[in-house]
Amino acid sequence: MRSRNCCSGGYEAAFLASVVDVDDGCLMSKKRSRGFFITFEGGEGAGKTSQITRLEKKLKQMGHDVLVTREPGGTPGAEAIRHVLLSGAAESFGPMMEALLFAAARSDHVELIIKPALEAGKVVISDRFIDSTRVYQGEGGKVDHDVLVRLEDVACGDVRPDLTVILDLPPEEGMKRANARRKGGAAADRFEKESISRQKRRRTAFRKIAKEEPDRCVLIDAKGSEAQVFSKVLDVVKKHLQLAV
Ligand code: TYD
Repeated sequence: MRSRNCCSGGYEAAFLASVVDVDDGCLMSKKRSRGFFITFEGGEGAGKTSQITRLEKKLKQMGHDVLVTREPGGTPGAEAIRHVLLSGAAESFGPMMEALLFAAARSDHVELIIKPALEAGKVVISDRFIDSTRVYQGEGGKVDHDVLVRLEDVACGDVRPDLTVILDLPPEEGMKRANARRKGGAAADRFEKESISRQKRRRTAFRKIAKEEPDRCVLIDAKGSEAQVFSKVLDVVKKHLQLAV
């Protein structure tokens, strides 16, 4: 079932009601009261970041007020936790400790960045969110599902994505892209260096979420060129923004 934000929903209606001018094909809006929350998910090297960059540009051209953010991170406190997590410094303390740190970072991020932006009527796009925790920390029962659900509630309150785009790619291909992206021989981070078999299980877990929550999640085949994938992403986003009337 689709979950709605306290401060989301009716986005397009609020958006259109606030439109005051049309200039060179761009909608100039005065003020919107409610936002729309989009998250991007997927395995390593699935292309989330480049799709988000394109989407941000396109939505801005269309006149939307857009805020792009990422997880773990997005606030000074959450970025500090990001460093601890991605460096691998918390790995030896076990999956529960890591799950708690992701939740702590998310709580700060939701409270200080995401919620205020949605309340200000923005389209918020986050590079990873709750589904990454469900998949990366939950895969293989490392952290009990019920614990993860409770952490989600604590960290997010009533904020949930209106739309989650899951970019689906075979891990072998994703790792090739991720390796090519790391310039100057930089080392793989704590999660990138994990085995292909674990990454295959994560892909299965993301696909399962997409199947279980079809109103919120859309699975997009991320093979093909950046432009080809973006045309599918844009179709999905436009459709969901319209549905939010
Ligand atoms: P990042 O450098 O942002 O890479 P990516 O381009 O893959 O998003 O790394 C974030 C890593 O943290 C990524 O490997 C997934 C992992 N992660 C979790 O394990 N749990 C979480 O809740 C989140 C948000 C991320």
